[in-house]
Amino acid sequence: MEALRIITEEHQNLWRIATTLDMVADEIDAGSKVETPFFTSVFDYIEQFMDRAHHAKEDEYLFRLLRERSTDAAAILDRLQAEHRNGPENLKDLRAKLAATAGGGESNAAFTGALRNYTAAIKSHVRSEEKDAMPLAREVLTTEDWAEIDKAFLDNDDPLFGSKARAEFRELFHRIASLAPESIGLGAHSAGSLQPGAGPAGGDVLLSVKGMESCYGRIKALKGIDLEVRKGELVALVGANGAGKTTFLRTLSGVQPMSAGKIMFDGEDISKLRSDLRMRRGICQSPEGRQVFGPLSIEDNLRLGAYTQPKHQVAEDMEKIYSMFPILKEKRNLPAGTLSGGQQQMLAIGRALMGRPKMLLLDEPSMGLAPLLVEEVFNVVKTLKSQGMTIFLVEQNAFAALAIADRGYVLETGNITLTGTGQELISNEQVRAAYLGM
Ligand SMILES: Nc1ncnc2c1ncn2[C@@H]1O[C@H](COP(=O)(O)OP(=O)(O)OP(=O)(O)O)[C@@H](O)[C@H]1O
Ligand SMILES: [Mg+2]
Repeated sequence: MEALRIITEEHQNLWRIATTLDMVADEIDAGSKVETPFFTSVFDYIEQFMDRAHHAKEDEYLFRLLRERSTDAAAILDRLQAEHRNGPENLKDLRAKLAATAGGGESNAAFTGALRNYTAAIKSHVRSEEKDAMPLAREVLTTEDWAEIDKAFLDNDDPLFGSKARAEFRELFHRIASLAPESIGLGAHSAGSLQPGAGPAGGDVLLSVKGMESCYGRIKALKGIDLEVRKGELVALVGANGAGKTTFLRTLSGVQPMSAGKIMFDGEDISKLRSDLRMRRGICQSPEGRQVFGPLSIEDNLRLGAYTQPKHQVAEDMEKIYSMFPILKEKRNLPAGTLSGGQQQMLAIGRALMGRPKMLLLDEPSMGLAPLLVEEVFNVVKTLKSQGMTIFLVEQNAFAALAIADRGYVLETGNITLTGTGQELISNEQVRAAYLGM
């Protein structure tokens, strides 16, 4: 049932876009300008991705077989497929409204009204697929059906849906995030390259933690954690509020005392090493809540991240960060406090990267961000991983984290209760019920 996972992931993307459009509509109603290039790129994305690829694939495989297997299917699918057919036409109407608004022929309110109807339709469509069509599919489709559907959805050479097409969709998505209004978007962001060829992926064990315990007074927040991270891996630690995720990261980087256990990093026992020395060894953290220094300039914030590094490489490293996040360069002399939440998150990640990490620790990078930016921050994490960076990602947003992770650990009140590949955990019933809200 890989296809269902892919479809759900795409629904989440679409949902983020719809929610973002609603937020932008609110801003326009409050007096902001209608940014034509932003809307054009959103409409292009929806047309190419949803109308031409996502819906086409559902119609051709999932819905066709559903109709063959179940007489109940028609009642659900007739409406959904009519909506698929009308998708391009609705989008055309919306583009016409946008053009009329830009040309002054129509009021902004008429445009935001049409926009809200459109996003409401998208959301209701997605909801109905998730609530009605997908459960029916789980119930009635046979193993052979799934084999056929999964094959189609996983076909990496498919011109409509394969890896090349998907890379193009991702480019489009980056563009949307960079064109979104300042309060929502990143201002500017390219998927620039940071560390060319930073070593092979999936190699030796880089971090090994055994029996880690940590306490606040008499309360034991970590009760004997065992985990491992290999070079080049992206490992996610997920868990509810108060599970101990941040405590784990702080104990790992040495700012929180460890009362029992052992930490091996890159072949060395660092259990008793001071935190600045651990940073020198390459453990660099982007902390929970970003914690950029608001009154300091963006450039000085980045410089702080390099305080354990030799002076001569700082300028060069800073240029690499700037090429990845152009908005930081543009604003480099301004106080960091003037950045939007998403931009501050980029700064916090950039600052950690200035320490030339061997392992990058990210504590809830998606916290408090607009939905579109959540996706964009995860795109940045994916880009870093593809460049060979070893990443340890802590998230409450379990679905998004596990979707990009090689492996994951589930933490519950100080204990690791489950571990597996990201995909195994996403399909695990317990995890779905507890963390994914499904
Ligand atoms: N400074 C502190 N003093 C006392 N108890 C603390 C302190 N910080 C955290 N705790 C407790 O330790 C446990 C683990 O907290 P921690 O912040 O590590 O959780 P978390 O998984 O990061 O949660 P969140 O998702 O909310 O960030 C919680 O019960 C919390 O109340
Ligand atoms: Mg935390």
